[in-house]
This record gives sequence, structure tokens and C-alpha cells, in this order.
Amino acid sequence: MIMDDARDPNYRPSKMAKRPPKCRICDAGLHTVLDLGRQPRADAFRSPDDSTPEYMFDLQLGLCESCGAVQLVDEVPAELMFNASYPFRTSTSQRMQRHFRDTAMSLLKSEVHTHTKPFMVEFGCNDGTFLTPLAEAGVAHLGVDPAANLVAEAVSRGINAQSGWFNADTASSILSAHRSATVIYAANTLCHISDLASVFVGVDVLLAKDGCFVFEDPYLGDIVEIGAFDQIYDEHIHYFTATSIDVIARKHGLALIDAQPLDTHGGQLRYTVARPHQKRTKAVEALLETERRMELHSRARLGHFASVVESRREELTSTLEALSNDGKRIAGYAATAKSATVLNYCGIDSALLSVIYDTTPEKHGRLAPGTGIPIEPFPTSVDDYPDIFLLLAWNHAREIAAREPEFAARGGMWLQYIPGVKLTKDPVA
Ligand code: TMP
Repeated sequence: MIMDDARDPNYRPSKMAKRPPKCRICDAGLHTVLDLGRQPRADAFRSPDDSTPEYMFDLQLGLCESCGAVQLVDEVPAELMFNASYPFRTSTSQRMQRHFRDTAMSLLKSEVHTHTKPFMVEFGCNDGTFLTPLAEAGVAHLGVDPAANLVAEAVSRGINAQSGWFNADTASSILSAHRSATVIYAANTLCHISDLASVFVGVDVLLAKDGCFVFEDPYLGDIVEIGAFDQIYDEHIHYFTATSIDVIARKHGLALIDAQPLDTHGGQLRYTVARPHQKRTKAVEALLETERRMELHSRARLGHFASVVESRREELTSTLEALSNDGKRIAGYAATAKSATVLNYCGIDSALLSVIYDTTPEKHGRLAPGTGIPIEPFPTSVDDYPDIFLLLAWNHAREIAAREPEFAARGGMWLQYIPGVKLTKDPVA
């Protein structure tokens, strides 16, 4: 684990021998099952004038054979990743806006049956996309997020939100300032938090007796199934399964009572954790059995995943080189966080990929972390598009296909690498 001095962006880990890595859940030894090499922070888009050395760390996936948890071996201090310059906005994707509106409304619908006075708390609330429909419906709610810039944005739109980390202290202060939460919700947040015990203790403090803790995160089963190695980056410290969540929940007097697959972000699960007196669904039992059958928590299964990842790298780089030698102009589609992993692991730099186009204004004029590929706004005319787009936002392929019909119409092609390397006319194919 990186030491405290790592809060300084110029900090370089010393050459001193590291302690053997330990599981963040049960403290047993971790086995490294996949090594993605030296990597930058995935969201650290650099100014071209910045000549300071880039913060780099070893991106390795570890397995705890004792409790089944899969997690990063090394980690970047949270303050370096989630602060007032955090560039990700939930609202950038229209599909995700719809997803969070639907989720909020369906949770509220079941709340209305169970609680006369719902109080819904979201941690990692980002720009308030999930809480907006609840605020509009006049439901008591509170958002918590360490990114003060995003919290300020949410507050200016009438959302109740405060900046900070969710843990036992925050939970106690919310409890005394408000009341117990009937729903605690988090999307793409729990897997970012190194110290899960601090969150689960907080949930136990704040959750009403018959309340639910509902959260969504990338699912290890899907990552392994489709070889989605680019889901592995600094911000994703944990790679959950139904099995591992049930273990953690039980350690804190809670239990996994439901788990539903989602097709967001390339394959996620929506977990529902509650006090153990609440009834567990058949879906959980089925999933636990599937994970046992898949041997998802074994060195053998994850070792096979690592060999798939290695051959994917060979195939992607040789395809890109061949296309480039053929005189094709290739650009990246969307400077996603996950693109840092694939570009750095495969050694793809501006010689192979001259530019990455992206819709986020804060990323324009900046350089992609590690590789230094320039990020620009999309050309206003499709005539200025490249011959081929490397589909870095593959998890948004349907939305992108709907937005870019003209690109295919004029002969443009998509280079995909998840679930395999292929060149297609349609990004969804
Ligand atoms: P993320 O995958 O790390 O959440 O980042 C999404 C980035 O992708 C964000 O910078 C916006 C960008 N993007 C586009 O540029 N065009 C698109 O069609 C989509 C869906 C995302």
C-alpha cells in the first residue's frame, strides 16, 4: 500500500521492499493474478505545460483466497483521485441520466409501500443526477460526495447535498441532523473505497431497521466473461461478486438479500444489502451457485482471464499497427477513465492514435494520462472525422451508434477490443 506522503503528486514510492500485500477485507495475504504494468491515475488529464513527472503506480489485481475478495494490490490515495478537480460527471451520458431517473423512481415506488416517510441518502452523489427526481417529487433526501465542485453544482440545482466521505462519523452526524435512512444508495462508488469496513459500519449506524442499502458496481463475473480488463484502474479498488459482498455484509451484521444484473457500464450488479431478518431472493442463491460453478474466486479462473488479456493486447496493437501502416487515420472515441488502462497497458501513444475526441469541455486541450495523446472536441463536421475510431467508450456503444449514423454512412469503421478485437461498421455489432 502507498504511504501517506503519496498525497504529494510528486511523490515517488521508494525502492524499499514493500510489505506483502494484505486483503482489505480479512487481512489474509493477496495473490497477484494480473499485472497491467505501471499506470497513471486514470482521470489525471494533464496540461501540455505541465512538465512535472507523472504520478505512476503498479496496476495489479490481487485475489484473497481466504475470503474471495478481488482488489487492487497497490492503491492511489483517495485524496488524489476524488477532489474538487474530479472531472467525471454522471450527467454526461443521456443513457445514464435515464438509468438513474428510472432507478430513483423505482426505489421510491417500493419505498411508498414500505415507509410513510422515506429518507433517501446517496453517497458518491456526484452532480446529483440520481437525487434530482427525488428532489422534484419532494422526497426527503441527502447527497454526500468528496468532490466539492460537483456538490456545489447539485446544491445550486436545489438538491440537498454536502461534501465529504461517507463513514461512521458522517453517518452519525446525518442521523442526529435528520433521521435514519430508509434507503442508502451508491452507484459506482463503493468499489472506489479502500476501507469498506468504514462504510458498512456507517450503513449499520444510519440504516432504518427495515431499510435497504442498494448499490451498483462493475461485476467481476462480467469483467472475466468478456475480458474487460480496462475496468481495472486506480479508482476501482474492489471487483465485487455476490459472494464477496455477502461475506463483507455478514461481517457487519447485514446480509445480501438481492442482486440484479444491469447492462450499464459493460456489466454491473445492483446489490441490495439489509438486516438479516429480511428475506433473501432466489436470484441471490442462483448467483452464488453460478459463481461457485465458475470458480470465479480461484487463481485458476483469474489466471485464465490474465492470459486472455495478454493475447488481447497482442491482437489490438498488431491490428492498430497494420491499419496505421495502411495509411488509415485513427482517433480515439471518448477519453474515458478506462482508456488509460488499455492505452498504457498496450503501449498505444500518439504515433498510433493521433487524437482522442471527447465531449467534456474540461478535458479539451489536455493530454491523456501516461500516453500524452491530445484530447480535443469532436470535429463539427463528419467530413473531418478519421477513417477509424478506436471505441474507448465501448460501454456506451448503443448511445454512440445512435449519435453517429453519418460516420458509418461515409464508410467510417469502429475498432473494438471488448469482448474481442474487431473492425466493424456498427459499434454495437
Ligand atoms: P467514463 O467512461 O470514464 O465515465 O468517461 C466518459 C467520457 O466519455 C466522458 O469524458 C464523456 C465521453 N463521452 C463522449 O465523448 N462521447 C459519448 O458519446 C459518450 C457516451 C461519452
